[in-house]
Amino acid sequence: MRDAAIEAATAQIRRVQNGEVPSPVVCTFFDEATNTASHVVHCPVTRRAAIIDSVLDYDAAAGRTSNGSAQVIVDYVRREGLTVDWQLETHAHADHLSAAPWLQEQLGGKLGIGADIIRVQNVFGKIFNAGTRFARDGSQFDRLFKDGETFLLGEIPVTVLHVPGHTPADMAFVIGSSAFVGDTIFMPDFGTARADFPGGDARQLFQSIRRLLSLPPETRLFLCHDYKAPGRDDYAWLTTVALERECNIHVHDGISEDEFVSMRTTRDATLAMPKLLMPSVQVNMRGGHMPEPEADGISYIKIPVNRL
Ligand SMILES: [Fe+2]
Repeated sequence: MRDAAIEAATAQIRRVQNGEVPSPVVCTFFDEATNTASHVVHCPVTRRAAIIDSVLDYDAAAGRTSNGSAQVIVDYVRREGLTVDWQLETHAHADHLSAAPWLQEQLGGKLGIGADIIRVQNVFGKIFNAGTRFARDGSQFDRLFKDGETFLLGEIPVTVLHVPGHTPADMAFVIGSSAFVGDTIFMPDFGTARADFPGGDARQLFQSIRRLLSLPPETRLFLCHDYKAPGRDDYAWLTTVALERECNIHVHDGISEDEFVSMRTTRDATLAMPKLLMPSVQVNMRGGHMPEPEADGISYIKIPVNRL
C-alpha cells in the first residue's frame, strides 16, 4: 500500500543528500535527571530554529520548578544568533515537564504537537478530574499537526509523521534528512518505548516503528530518551535507520508484529510508573502550563489515589 507521507519524507531526504537543500544543524542537550534529550535544530543558511522536547526542571518532593536546563538552551540559541520559529513536542511526555511556555517567553516560537493530543487531553482530563475549565480541544497549542503535513524551517523542508503507539498523539518530525522520533524507538541496544500508558498500543507502536524504518537507510534518527544499556557507559541519542534495522534488540528486521507485541506487553508489565508521571501529564496536557491557580493564587498538582 502506498504511504504518501513516507514517500514525501523520502523525497525530502533525497533532496538533502543531493545538496538541493541545506542539511540541518543539530545540538542536543541531555537532562540526566529525566534521561531526556532535547534538540535544537537550525537551518545554517537562515539560522531559523526549532526546539524539540525541552525540559523544565522539577523537584517533586518540594513541588518546585526551575529553569536551569532550559536556560542552557536559551544561552546556546542567543550565542548562535538563532531565531526560534518552533517549540515542538513529539508527544505529551509522562516523565518530564515541558519548558516550552517558558522558552516561548524567552525566545518566541509557535508551540506545535500532534492533533491527537485532544485524545490524550480527554483521557487524562478524566483521570485527573480536571473539570470544565480544562479545554480538551488542543487550544493550549499554536499548531496541531496531522500525518503528512509539511512546512519549512528556514530553507529546510520538514515532513511530520504520526507515529502512535507509545501514546495516541506521538509525532516524528523529519527535518531535512534527520528524523526526530520522540518515544518510538531507542538506541539499538535498548530497544523501544513502552506502550502501556492510557491510550498506548503495542501493535500500533510496531507499525509506527516499521514505518519510520522504511525511510532511507542513512536517515539519522534523533531520540528523545536514553537510559544507557548493559555494557554501555555513555548516553547516546543518535542512530540511523540502517543500524536500527540491523541491530535493534526489539524490532530488527525479521521480528514479526506478534513477536514484538508479546515481548512489549510482557516487558511493560514489569515497568514501574515514571517518577514524574503525575506532574508531567497534568502540566503537559496543558501545553506545559501549570493547572489553573486555585482561590489562593497557587497551582496544585493532584494525585488520584488507586487510579493508575
Ligand atoms: Fe514519552
